[in-house]
Amino acid sequence: MSGLFITATGTDCGKTFVTAGLLRHLRAAGLPARALKPVVSGFDPASPAGSDPAVLIEAMGEPFTPAALDAIAPLRFKAPLAPNMAARLEGRRLTLDDILRLCAPALRAARGPLLIEGAGGVMSPLAEGATCLDAIMALRLPALLVTGSYLGAISHALTAHAAMWAAGCAPCAIVLCESEGSGVSFAETLAEIAGFLPGVPLAPIRRGETDFGPLASVCGLLA
Ligand SMILES: Nc1ncnc2c1ncn2[C@@H]1O[C@H](COP(=O)(O)OP(=O)(O)O)[C@@H](O)[C@H]1O
Ligand SMILES: [Mg+2]
Repeated sequence: MSGLFITATGTDCGKTFVTAGLLRHLRAAGLPARALKPVVSGFDPASPAGSDPAVLIEAMGEPFTPAALDAIAPLRFKAPLAPNMAARLEGRRLTLDDILRLCAPALRAARGPLLIEGAGGVMSPLAEGATCLDAIMALRLPALLVTGSYLGAISHALTAHAAMWAAGCAPCAIVLCESEGSGVSFAETLAEIAGFLPGVPLAPIRRGETDFGPLASVCGLLA
């Protein structure tokens, strides 16, 4: 069993795209990889198509059923806010323990790689008084940091890396996921980040990338 926490510099950077790509690659390689999105906000049960859980269930090659949804994303909230803030609107108090109590048994039970997708960015609130980084620290999992390639992404990537490094959980790799129509050079952004972070594995994922083999190897998921 191996676990990997997929976090990002912010929302809409490509966490789900990358997690789904890794799932497909690992499963095609014969590994029973699964995903967990322990808490999802902005989830409308009336139209789940395109939601993170729906994308991840599809990448696992399973039909979208209530049981599959409960297994992959047990905590779901409607408002498109940080999960604890969305939970509050539904009269619930979401704690870090609630999330750890879902992740820890799932990690123990996993028969293959378990990919846990966070919410928002690495310093986004995930639960009351706890960020995604707090969850990564508590779970003691390797973390993959996904960043976009938009103007400003270099600062976001270096800031997120610095926060993770300072907390003692530097990312096992950074994924530069190409942002749509960013107008900045992808290759130069990649080279610039690499220059500031020598020795940190940096994996480029272009728009529409379908080969996640190199990233799976970098993350040690094929071992
Ligand atoms: N490299 C990429 N190629 C094509 N589409 C991408 C890529 N990265 C992200 N996207 C798309 O951009 C949107 C936001 O990405 P997503 O993975 O949902 O971000 P996050 O999970 O970090 O919020 C989604 O529609 C996703 O399919
Ligand atoms: Mg997502």
